[in-house]
Amino acid sequence: MSNKLLSEIKIDKIGSFQNRVVMSAMTRGFADKNHCATSDILNYYESRAKNDIGLIITEGIIIHPSADGYNNVPHLFTDQQMLSWKKIVDAVHKYKTKIYAQLWHCGRISHSDYTNGIDPVSSTNNPATGINRQNQKPYGKPRALKTNEMESVYNMFAHSAEMALKAGFDGVQIHMGHGYLVDQFIDGNINDRKDKYGGSIENRIRFAIELLDSLIKKIGNEKIMVRISPSRMMGGLYEWPEMMDTLEKLLKELDAAGLRQLDISCANSNYFETSGKIIRQIKKQWPHLLIGGASLTIDEAENEITEGLLDMVTWGRAILANPNFVKLIEKKLPLKEFNNSMRESLI
Ligand SMILES: Cc1cc2nc3c(=O)[nH]c(=O)nc-3n(C[C@H](O)[C@H](O)[C@H](O)COP(=O)(O)O)c2cc1C
Repeated sequence: MSNKLLSEIKIDKIGSFQNRVVMSAMTRGFADKNHCATSDILNYYESRAKNDIGLIITEGIIIHPSADGYNNVPHLFTDQQMLSWKKIVDAVHKYKTKIYAQLWHCGRISHSDYTNGIDPVSSTNNPATGINRQNQKPYGKPRALKTNEMESVYNMFAHSAEMALKAGFDGVQIHMGHGYLVDQFIDGNINDRKDKYGGSIENRIRFAIELLDSLIKKIGNEKIMVRISPSRMMGGLYEWPEMMDTLEKLLKELDAAGLRQLDISCANSNYFETSGKIIRQIKKQWPHLLIGGASLTIDEAENEITEGLLDMVTWGRAILANPNFVKLIEKKLPLKEFNNSMRESLI
């Protein structure tokens, strides 16, 4: 029987999590036309809270209209949007579940269809390859951010983070993974800049560190988690170039800046061939809260915690398919299999 997974964990200034089960960020695309969260979205999250999930990390929430790239995703920019999320946070907090907002800038994984006609921004002028499944068009041509524009992007994140805390979220998760804006700076296969934000590893991680510094100045360090994905599935297994060097330098700087909570994602790849491998190498370097996962069995999750590799374990699709995930694993009952049709509605 799992012991550690269902045991409480405390985090400074955030408090107690009733267990170590985390609902991973999952974009669902059911926001209303003003990019507000709806009562259906409220029911979706409340049903997970009612069933004892330790921590919910919301779907990616767009920080500013210029940061969008997806159909019908929620934003956290206006008061109206903040109030729509406040209702969800209040509903979740009727139970013992904590909830973080995942804050998201798509960068070039977008198209001007989603950014009010303006070019999406990135570290580069080169578009992502392939067809955007959101609008069935090639990804839009991005515009490389100018050196003097970085601060305005940090301020967008900070505004959204402040709105999240105003709505009552227990914390924010800054999405630095999966090929979106921050990752477009870190990843040497994408970042082709010649200025102080490109070239060496130190330069490529500068955007992430300045962003974190700027957020910490505005909201402090205690309520910030960062999600990265050095090794993941992206049309096949994909790794950052110079992955371990980049990771070591990035973690050193994130730590020095004051970050204390990290999520290492491998998207939907095999955890043990990606994040699990990496975590075994960097765990000594990162003594702070570390979460990760991807469809782990309960025994595997328990083992990662017992071995001191993970503090909390994330599940995405299994919690989408089973709102009562924690109750089922407590009783050792079988989980319903996820299938793609479940993406089509908010269950
Ligand atoms: C429908 C769906 C939407 C997702 N959207 C996001 C997202 O908005 N942000 C994010 O960081 N990851 C997103 N992911 C990735 C998940 O957070 C998770 O890392 C991935 O599903 C692997 O975990 P699993 O194998 O337990 O599902 C999404 C995954 C799914 C299935």
